[in-house]
Amino acid sequence: MVLVTGGAGFIGGNFVLHWLSDMSAEGIINLDKLTYAGNLATLASLEGDSRHIFIHGDIGDQDLIGKLLQEYKPRAIINFAAESHVDRSIHGPADFIQTNVVGTFNLLECAREYWSALQGSEKEQFRFHHVSTDEVYGSLADSDHAFRETNPYEPNSPYSASKAASDHLVRAWFHTYGLPVVTTNCSNNYGPYHFPEKLIPLIILNALDGKLLPVYGDGQQIRDWLYVGDHCSAIREVLANGRLGETYNIGGWNEKANLEVVNTICKILDELKPRTDKKSYAVQIAFIKDRPGHDRRYAIDAGKIEKELGWRPAETFDTGIRKTVQWYLDNPAWVQGVVTGSYHDWLEKQYLN
Ligand code: NAD
Ligand code: TYD
Repeated sequence: MVLVTGGAGFIGGNFVLHWLSDMSAEGIINLDKLTYAGNLATLASLEGDSRHIFIHGDIGDQDLIGKLLQEYKPRAIINFAAESHVDRSIHGPADFIQTNVVGTFNLLECAREYWSALQGSEKEQFRFHHVSTDEVYGSLADSDHAFRETNPYEPNSPYSASKAASDHLVRAWFHTYGLPVVTTNCSNNYGPYHFPEKLIPLIILNALDGKLLPVYGDGQQIRDWLYVGDHCSAIREVLANGRLGETYNIGGWNEKANLEVVNTICKILDELKPRTDKKSYAVQIAFIKDRPGHDRRYAIDAGKIEKELGWRPAETFDTGIRKTVQWYLDNPAWVQGVVTGSYHDWLEKQYLN
């Protein structure tokens, strides 16, 4: 079996579904705290599938993790669990330090104790895969080369600083204790089951609800978008064949300015679900106050993972964004389940002024 943490969230949930779509795949123990970002509805299609064991719990709970490792003896831990939204980290960084730093530390210590007691091939094959972000590298100028694995860490937000700290802990547990780790640093993901606080699902749902489409600052900030299914396939490749102690950057070779992304979504919706007045959804775009400390540009040089492991994304932005918009149109029940009272509280806190 493998132990996945954060497997009820956006990427972790997609990963669990991706993994178990292969009928011969090993089982998954899925540990998730079910914060506002965790949704069991994402995993509804696995009901009755004995290969998926869901455990409601915290990566910071030493007793629970120790017990799970002893009981299920996983051959790998894949750590997705995190607080992941930059804007929330600006309003309240404490949870980010607790889960992303202290939680990862606890997971590493539990993994070390468990792995130290393993013998022979079980010990050799064990892996701790830490899922991280490109935001640890800071912000690029227009003329800078995309992030390579050798770039210095220059995190600028409480979120990216907490992820950078966790990456450093993972690195140190390899160098000091020999724990067999791999780390992946990925660019912005998009796709099905994405919680609508992040740009792409927020724009799709606000558009359909007739609300304003909030664009921070001048909308010319650049992100390198990767379809979530491609992130899942990259993680599986690194878990299977990545070199121990290495980090691998994962990206889509898809740099887009935010305003371009928003306009693309509007165009697809104009075609698939036109407004009743036949105007473009683009009339709903509203430029609003910029995010404090907003990183201008992220871009990934995904050359290492391609050269060493032969991985490249399968989706282009055009194919992935169309699939994503269609998925939100086809899945109103999932959306209704996640836009609860606490979601509305967040929108008020972040956008009211
Ligand atoms: P998400 O916020 O959608 O999901 C996080 C999941 O972790 C949720 O299910 C939540 O309930 C769970 N969780 C939070 N705290 C926990 C705790 N203490 N113990 C157990 N579970 C806990 O996040 P995501 O977008 O799926 O991101 C997953 C990972 O990928 C994160 O580590 C993030 O830093 C990284 N990442 C995300 C992106 C992106 O674009 N979303 C890009 C690169 C890397
Ligand atoms: P987001 O999806 O929050 O991801 P991240 O901050 O991790 O890159 O934001 C993506 C980009 O979109 C980022 O430059 C901020 C911008 N953005 C907006 O312009 N408006 C919004 O309402 C949101 C949520 C984000």
